[in-house]
Amino acid sequence: MNYNTCFHLLLGLFIPCSVVCLAMTTRNLNSDQFVLLKFKDRIADPQNVLANNWTASTSVCNWIGVSCGIIHKRVIALNLTSMNLRGTIPPHLGNLSFLLSLDLSSNNLSGHLPKELGQLHRLRIIQLSYNGLNGEIPEWLGNLQRVQRLEMENNSFTGTIPQTLVNMSNLEILNLQFNQLSGQVPSSIFRISSMKIISLFSNSLSGSLPNDMCQHLPKLEVLYLSRNELSGKVPSSIGATTFKFWHCSIINLRGSFQEVLEI
Ligand SMILES: *[C@@H]1O[C@H](CO)[C@@H](O)[C@H](O)[C@H]1NC(C)=O
Ligand SMILES: *[C@@H]1O[C@H](CO)[C@@H](O)[C@H](O)[C@H]1NC(C)=O
Ligand SMILES: *[C@@H]1O[C@H](CO)[C@@H](O)[C@H](O)[C@H]1NC(C)=O
Ligand SMILES: *[C@@H]1O[C@H](CO)[C@@H](O)[C@H](O)[C@H]1NC(C)=O
Ligand SMILES: *[C@@H]1O[C@H](CO)[C@@H](O)[C@H](O)[C@H]1NC(C)=O
Ligand SMILES: *[C@@H]1O[C@H](CO)[C@@H](O)[C@H](O)[C@H]1NC(C)=O
Repeated sequence: MNYNTCFHLLLGLFIPCSVVCLAMTTRNLNSDQFVLLKFKDRIADPQNVLANNWTASTSVCNWIGVSCGIIHKRVIALNLTSMNLRGTIPPHLGNLSFLLSLDLSSNNLSGHLPKELGQLHRLRIIQLSYNGLNGEIPEWLGNLQRVQRLEMENNSFTGTIPQTLVNMSNLEILNLQFNQLSGQVPSSIFRISSMKIISLFSNSLSGSLPNDMCQHLPKLEVLYLSRNELSGKVPSSIGATTFKFWHCSIINLRGSFQEVLEI
């Protein structure tokens, strides 16, 4: 094969490939745009934050609250905190397939978490605190194994904490305080060794805690369990012998498991 043939062969391969790749990037970016325009359609935005900014004439990457990856230019973060948005979370968000971080905190969102969010396998941060979200904490959250922060404080979630959360093996912060969760705290969550902060403060959780609950939590700094209906003794693994959860409040385990603060 001489130089020319080789050159033409390479060119012949390169051109169609570039065209296909370019077309794919464009199509995928348009799909992110489609998803976000659907989101905008479905959400009430009384302050017109999105109405005047999320327009098809500019790239999604320049839209307020949207961040894109540097190379592939897909949407990797959506941060719409404190924009006074109302309505239910549209299922379309499940198609933002490159999303790493979702922050919809401090809005007025209600309804259930759509199961389509369970497709967002790259997610590392889920911040949905300070809304009026309700229904059960879905089992499919356990499939999102890269999540490091799951924060859903001050909502109206009911039902029990699902066992499936044990599969979130990178979880560092689990914040479900100020909801209406009931039932036993699944002992499996005390086996996620990456955990740093667990806050279940102010729910209706009941039952006792596993005796060895802190043995598998080498990084735990803070454990907030008060204002629940938990009973029994504090497991010996956290260093106190008797401790009534219903009138005591915060167990603070910053640094070591020896220090138990009553506030
Ligand atoms: C949308 O908001 C962003 C961030 O505030 C701003 O940089 C951009 O210029 C705005 N775009 C339009 C079309 O108003
Ligand atoms: C979202 O933006 C706010 C400030 O606008 C910031 O405080 C917050 O940390 C951001 N959320 C995430 C998950 O980065
Ligand atoms: C998500 O994308 C898939 C494939 O393009 C499509 O079939 C589905 O309808 C989309 N879902 C939503 C809720 O937009
Ligand atoms: C949420 O909506 C209710 C009723 O529409 C309103 O009273 C409340 O102030 C809103 N909360 C926020 C944080 O905007
Ligand atoms: C969180 O919820 C609690 C209990 O419902 C309430 O007292 C508190 O004011 C809420 N905090 C915020 C910042 O909304
Ligand atoms: C955790 O994931 C594994 C593998 O996907 C699955 O077999 C198991 O049932 C899951 N555990 C829970 C408690 O959901």
